[in-house]
Amino acid sequence: MNLIQSIFVLIAVLMSKSGAEKVMYAQVGDTVTFRAPERNPSPKYYIYWNFDAEGHSTPLAWLNYLGGKQIIPSEPWQISWTLPGDSLTITNIQEENFGTFVFKLTVDDVVVITTKYELVKLSVSMTPDSPLLPGDILSLACIVSQKKPTIQWLNPRGAVKNNQGTISTKATNEDNGQWTCVVTDDKQTHNTSINVKVVDLSPAPLRQYTSTYSPLTVLCSIPSDISWKQIKEKDIQEVQWHFLPEPSSKPISDDQQRLFSLSLEDPLTWKVDQNRGLIPVPDLAKGNLSLTRDQGKEDDRGSYMCTLKFKNGVTLKRTVHVEVLQIISSPKELISGQRVNLSCTTSGPLPSDVHFKWFPPEKSSLQRSSHHPAHLTIPEVSAGDGGRWRCELWQGDILLTWAMTVLKIEPKLSVWMLVIICSAAVILILLLILTFILCRRRQQRTRHLRPRLCRCKNPKPKGFYRT
Ligand SMILES: *[C@@H]1O[C@H](CO)[C@@H](O)[C@H](O)[C@H]1NC(C)=O
Ligand SMILES: *[C@@H]1O[C@H](CO)[C@@H](O)[C@H](O)[C@H]1NC(C)=O
Repeated sequence: MNLIQSIFVLIAVLMSKSGAEKVMYAQVGDTVTFRAPERNPSPKYYIYWNFDAEGHSTPLAWLNYLGGKQIIPSEPWQISWTLPGDSLTITNIQEENFGTFVFKLTVDDVVVITTKYELVKLSVSMTPDSPLLPGDILSLACIVSQKKPTIQWLNPRGAVKNNQGTISTKATNEDNGQWTCVVTDDKQTHNTSINVKVVDLSPAPLRQYTSTYSPLTVLCSIPSDISWKQIKEKDIQEVQWHFLPEPSSKPISDDQQRLFSLSLEDPLTWKVDQNRGLIPVPDLAKGNLSLTRDQGKEDDRGSYMCTLKFKNGVTLKRTVHVEVLQIISSPKELISGQRVNLSCTTSGPLPSDVHFKWFPPEKSSLQRSSHHPAHLTIPEVSAGDGGRWRCELWQGDILLTWAMTVLKIEPKLSVWMLVIICSAAVILILLLILTFILCRRRQQRTRHLRPRLCRCKNPKPKGFYRT
């Protein structure tokens, strides 16, 4: 029995790994797990976790083959076993917890494995702490207390800024996002991220489409992770909406209209200048500055500018270009048989990835096809083409807006109808001439008779006579 045990010990000793050392990096407050090294099954083992610092060793935890397991609790440690197994997790690392952690496995009092973990303090910091405005100085520091690893900062786009741990730069919108400090020593890399906020307006589509049949929404908002309080702390001066109609013949300054301006005292409220029927959305408190209207108008076409001006001169601006979709038919008055052109247009250029869908009236002579150009030509309109024509503007599978027009088609006069109308007219004229001639004749006859009657000297007295 003893012999077998000795053989086990011997094997274990032969396979022992001693002095292996790992370096780990953590910030104050982090959670770190020390993974116990792989080990062979062996009887009568004991495992010890110790902490070595400033020359003396503190026991942290132990466990053994009999099922005994203990964490030796003591401030400032927050230790737990990582289940399953014999790894150790330390949560909320404190200043006092940086040092060397030692894992020791003994079999029959012979040390079989010793592994050291050096926990090195990493400090990652950013100043100023609050969101920055473009142009503010952004300072980032990534400092390792001992050792001399390579330290690099990666900006949100993953580009390397080589600088041994500290960065000081003028913030731009591109700096908004997650910065990563990469600590590299000869064996490993350790990444730590920090979130940099640079105040800007949320990205929104640069173009919006509307029509007299669909709503108009002009989007502008402050990102949800930035509050009005933070914006005010950055010394906001004014928040305004302007509109520049298009096409514009006058110089910009003459034609630009102020739509709204924000009153910055609490509670925030919009002051109306010329609202053009637009209504601010109700979520102003949440940073939504958008304007809407139930229906577009023909003169909505133009640029809508949402601006945030700060006292230090920084201006954040979003310009939304609004296009109004319309169906134009030429000619406007239609007689069946005529050639007609229908155009579905915004009167401005459209991006190449948008497409149209036409919906002619049900009885239209126009063949329905999968191809829907912006301009349709009907070589000969018929009565069936009369009615509602609908045109939709799509971008991918998103319906941007739609427009409608109603075609009224007068029936064409046929040749036979013309012949009948003309004949009727001729007959009518002939009849009129005939009546005229007859009247004249009768008048002349009466004129001949009248003198004879008048020369009669003894007209019979009126009354009844007895003969
Ligand atoms: C702002 O309001 C508009 C209209 O209600 C909505 O479409 C848009 O998604 C909102 N934006 C944000 C960022 O909530
Ligand atoms: C219709 O469009 C064609 C070209 O597509 C043009 O030649 C024609 O003059 C247009 N007709 C009308 C009535 O506008």
